[in-house]
Amino acid sequence: MNYQWYPGHMTKAKRMMQENISLIDLVIELVDARIPLSSRNPDIDELGKNKSRLILLNKSDLADPEANKLWMTYFRNLGFHVLEINAKTGQGLRQIQPKVQEACREKIERDRKRGIKNRPVRAIVVGIPNVGKSTFINSFAGKACAKTGNKPGVTKGKQWIRLNKELELLDTPGILWPKFESEEVGKRLAMIGSMNDEILQMTELAVELLAYLLVHYRQPLFARYQVEEGAEEMTPVQMLSLICENRKCYKKGQEPDLEKAAALLVDDFRSGRIGRITLETCGEA
Ligand code: G4P
Repeated sequence: MNYQWYPGHMTKAKRMMQENISLIDLVIELVDARIPLSSRNPDIDELGKNKSRLILLNKSDLADPEANKLWMTYFRNLGFHVLEINAKTGQGLRQIQPKVQEACREKIERDRKRGIKNRPVRAIVVGIPNVGKSTFINSFAGKACAKTGNKPGVTKGKQWIRLNKELELLDTPGILWPKFESEEVGKRLAMIGSMNDEILQMTELAVELLAYLLVHYRQPLFARYQVEEGAEEMTPVQMLSLICENRKCYKKGQEPDLEKAAALLVDDFRSGRIGRITLETCGEA
C-alpha cells in the first residue's frame, strides 16, 4: 500500500512555519496519544529549537490510559513539558496555563530583569493534519476562532488571540507533515484515520490492525465481536471473517463482504468502541 498522500505543499508550509515560529516564544505541539511518535513531524525539533516546548497528548480519551502515563514520562525525560488532554471535551485544558508559565519561566524571568512588564507569552499550535489543532484552539480559547480544515501552513495576516494577559495564541495552527519514510508510520496514521480513506485498501488495513489487536488487545477485541476464546491460534484473516459473520456483512447471494467488515472494524477502532487503544509503545519508531 502506498501511504504517501500529501500533494507538494510541504516546502511552502515549512517556510511559513519558519516565518511564524520566529515570532513566538512557545511551541504547543499536538500529538495523537494513540501514536505519539508517528504523529510527530520530523522537522519540529529543528524548527522549534531555542523555543519553549509543550507537547499535548491529544485524543487521550481514545488511547490506553496506562500507555498515556508511559508516554508522558517518555516525553518528560526528553526535556519536554507535557500534558494529556482531550481537546473535544476540554479535559486537561485547565492545566495548560500553569504549564505554559513553567515552560516559559526563563523568558518571563529575562523580561523581568530587562524591566519588560506584562509582555504575554506568544504561542503557536502545531501538528499534523487531523490531530485536533482547530478543536484545541476553539476549546482552549473558548470561542470559534479557529477554522476547522486542513490548509497547509499558516495564513498571511497574523492574528493573535489574547487568552489573558499572560498568553497569546496565533489564531491559525501550523500544519506539519508526518514522517513519510517508514511504511509502519504510514500504516498507523491510516489506522487512526489521518489520511484519505479513499486511497486505502480497507481490508489490508483491517488485517494489519487485527494482527496488532490480537496480540495487544485480544480481550476487548473478542468482547466487542462476541468471539469465544478458543484453544487454537486465530489469524487476523480468520478474525476478520468472524467479524464479518458476527455483523452479518454479506453481499448479494450470502457471499461474505470482507470489505464491509473491514470498514466496520476500522470505524469501531477509530471511535473507541473496541476500547482505549494505543498502537505504539515507547521506544518504537
Ligand atoms: P486539525 O485541526 O488538527 O486538522 O484537527 P481537527 O481539530 O479538525 O480535529 C480532527 C478530528 O478529531 C475532529 O473530528 C475532532 O472532533 C476530533 N478530535 C479532536 N480532539 C479530540 C480529542 O481529544 N478526542 C477525540 N475523541 N476526538 C478529538 P471529526 O470527525 O472531524 O469531527 P466530529 O466527529 O468531532 O464532528
